[in-house]
Amino acid sequence: MLPRLQYGTTAKVFHWLIVALLIVQYLIGWLMPDLHRGQQPGKGMVFHISFGITILLVILLRFVWRLTHPVAPESSLPPWQRLSSELVHWMLYVLVLATTLSGWLFASFRGWSVSYFYLFPLPMLAGDNAAAGKAIDGLHQAAEWTLLVFVGFHVLAALAHLFVYRDRVMQRMLPG
Ligand code: HEM
Ligand code: HEM
Repeated sequence: MLPRLQYGTTAKVFHWLIVALLIVQYLIGWLMPDLHRGQQPGKGMVFHISFGITILLVILLRFVWRLTHPVAPESSLPPWQRLSSELVHWMLYVLVLATTLSGWLFASFRGWSVSYFYLFPLPMLAGDNAAAGKAIDGLHQAAEWTLLVFVGFHVLAALAHLFVYRDRVMQRMLPG
């Protein structure tokens, strides 16, 4: 398939929807009360898990869209910037997947039953398993912090294009 030169409306909507969902998700994650042993999920956790599953679904849809609608890198970029931006974009997909799946596994091993925004029960990936829960303890936090570091690189690069290189890279992801 021949790559397009610009991102279409769907790719832009997916991009900014994920940004908005991640902001909400980090805020809930950091503001919800700490977990205690044997505790059932409270309201904050039910919303965290529901938003998390939504992020997982949207990132999967977005990934399929990216594969079926490839976009060529900005033609004015030097080879090292094309390569590094491709790498960071792929890592962002991988890290969102790793963060959502590790969270889902962590919640599953706790033996919780959670409903999606209090609407219907969510399937869990595994049954109650304290040993497995202990083994992957910390994985979700590691994934969520690594994702934040890569988002940081990505946003710094976008700002550098906007204010230092003053090229059209930022405009590629803006409406219009
Ligand atoms: C990209 C999506 C997600 C992000 C950015 C995220 C972020 C966070 C954050 C910031 C915390 C607080 C922990 C800390 O203080 O560092 C947290 C905890 C937690 N999250 Fe997520 N989360 C995501 C997806 C999910 C999903 C999909 C689930 C479950 C289905 C989940 C389950 C949990 C659980 C059980 C905790 C408490 C245990 C722990 O602290 O490790 N998360 N998450
Ligand atoms: C304020 C925050 C953000 C800004 C200003 C921003 C800016 C941009 C810009 C300008 C591009 C186009 C680069 C190009 O020409 O190739 C882009 C692409 C991309 N951004 Fe962001 N971004 C932000 C947050 C995020 C976040 C949180 C993610 C996390 C998943 C993300 C994931 C991506 C991906 C994967 C692409 C490549 C397009 C695709 O393959 O779908 N961005 N971003």
